[in-house]
Amino acid sequence: MLTQPNPSTPTLAPTSGGGSCGCASTSMLFGEFEGRRQLPSDMQDHMLFLYMTARHWPGGAKILELGVRKGNSTISFLAALESDRAGGLWSLDIATPEVPDSWYESDRWQFLKAHDLSSRATDFAPPELDILFVDSEHDFGSAKAELDLYVPRVRPGGVVLCHDTDEPELSGPGQALTAYCEEHPGLSWTNRYGCHGMGVMRIW
Ligand SMILES: C[S@@+](CC[C@H](N)C(=O)[O-])C[C@H]1O[C@@H](n2cnc3c(N)ncnc32)[C@H](O)[C@@H]1O
Repeated sequence: MLTQPNPSTPTLAPTSGGGSCGCASTSMLFGEFEGRRQLPSDMQDHMLFLYMTARHWPGGAKILELGVRKGNSTISFLAALESDRAGGLWSLDIATPEVPDSWYESDRWQFLKAHDLSSRATDFAPPELDILFVDSEHDFGSAKAELDLYVPRVRPGGVVLCHDTDEPELSGPGQALTAYCEEHPGLSWTNRYGCHGMGVMRIW
């Protein structure tokens, strides 16, 4: 089974390298990531964790992101993929993301404006994922439906991340993760504290 190697110290993206290696794009996205993770946001405590989680997957991580808004999770994943020069990020949102136009130039990123439970969304999302990131609706029913639909696409060794899981008994995403694990013996999840919590469920 292929799994992500142990996280290591973040590697700074090269700022020069000569030739046409995409370094300018990597540097721009990495700079945006570094800048944003210094600024208060509801994702700040998790941005480095998202970056590290997305790095060093064999062949590059395949990531599905549900919920973009201002793009703090998006840039964490994109910076990792651009640093690795491998993998891809597929993002869904019902609204137009409030992100710089330059991000769309990354050949690592694809965005679809659609409800994440729609057939357009399921057609758009890769059939096999390394990382599923859930941060859209935060009620139990929506979060559970998203898990039911997309967790089966996460391959063994992959990981599911759900934002807003502090107070697991009260939060919709926390309750949804617990319900999913009860229905799938062998799975469990933990809460990573900070910025409303990040639920982490490894798939085996
Ligand atoms: C909390 S924000 C995402 C924040 C983002 N992950 C970040 O780190 O900045 C939630 C986003 O989910 C989107 N959303 C809500 N329900 C959705 C659905 N059913 N399908 C797709 N996107 C949805 C909203 O439009 C909003 O942009």
